[in-house]
Amino acid sequence: MLSKCLNVYRALIFTFVLGYTSCALIPEPEVKIDVLHKPFLCHRKTKLGDRLLIHYAGFFENGTMFHSSRENNGEAVWFTLGIKESLIGWDRGLREMCAGEKRKLIIPPTLAYGKEGRGKIPPESTLTFEIELFEIKHGPRSHDSFQEMDLNDDWKLSRREVKDYLRREFDKYGVAQNDTQQESMVNDIFTNEDEDEDGYISAREFTYKHDEL
Ligand SMILES: *[C@@H]1O[C@H](CO)[C@@H](O)[C@H](O)[C@H]1NC(C)=O
Ligand SMILES: *[C@@H]1O[C@H](CO)[C@@H](O)[C@H](O)[C@H]1NC(C)=O
Repeated sequence: MLSKCLNVYRALIFTFVLGYTSCALIPEPEVKIDVLHKPFLCHRKTKLGDRLLIHYAGFFENGTMFHSSRENNGEAVWFTLGIKESLIGWDRGLREMCAGEKRKLIIPPTLAYGKEGRGKIPPESTLTFEIELFEIKHGPRSHDSFQEMDLNDDWKLSRREVKDYLRREFDKYGVAQNDTQQESMVNDIFTNEDEDEDGYISAREFTYKHDEL
């Protein structure tokens, strides 16, 4: 239940980047981050929604490598930060990172493949990744979620549309939320996002307002 709460919270942070903190106080397993190399110059650090060009190698606890993007002359891969495209541990461990930086992430099972494991990853595996970041690009910054919310395609979000979206998100993660709680979230979201206070969150307000996290 608690981790579901966090999942929803994370999804909403990516979507709205709002200061809604009701779930934030719950202790949880952390990713251990070692910076192996920090470039001398850092013009910009990664933030949620960015696209990252990376090479990575993954290791079991005994040190055996199970995968590397460099295998078979592999090219660096693009990865979008903060949308659970890969492991949650990556979304946590690759924030505020500079192009040229190299990190080692030690990721507990709950933020990796969990109780089940996957493929050659045994259940309950703590995984280590060495990740080198080459390039950072602005991501699509939740354009997809905007369209998902904008049910009537008028390029602005009404309170109803936002509330329906929240309800679907909470249902998806099996979190019970009563109407009062949802109303209060919608209020928080509109306070943060509806800059011109016209009662709608426009595509522009949605996309650009919180560009610099
Ligand atoms: C290291 O751990 C992995 C996963 O448990 C296992 O598949 C592999 O055989 C181990 N390697 C060695 C050398 O023990
Ligand atoms: C909704 O949940 C909140 C927080 O758990 C609680 O304080 C409130 O009484 C509930 N409201 C209703 C109508 O059930």
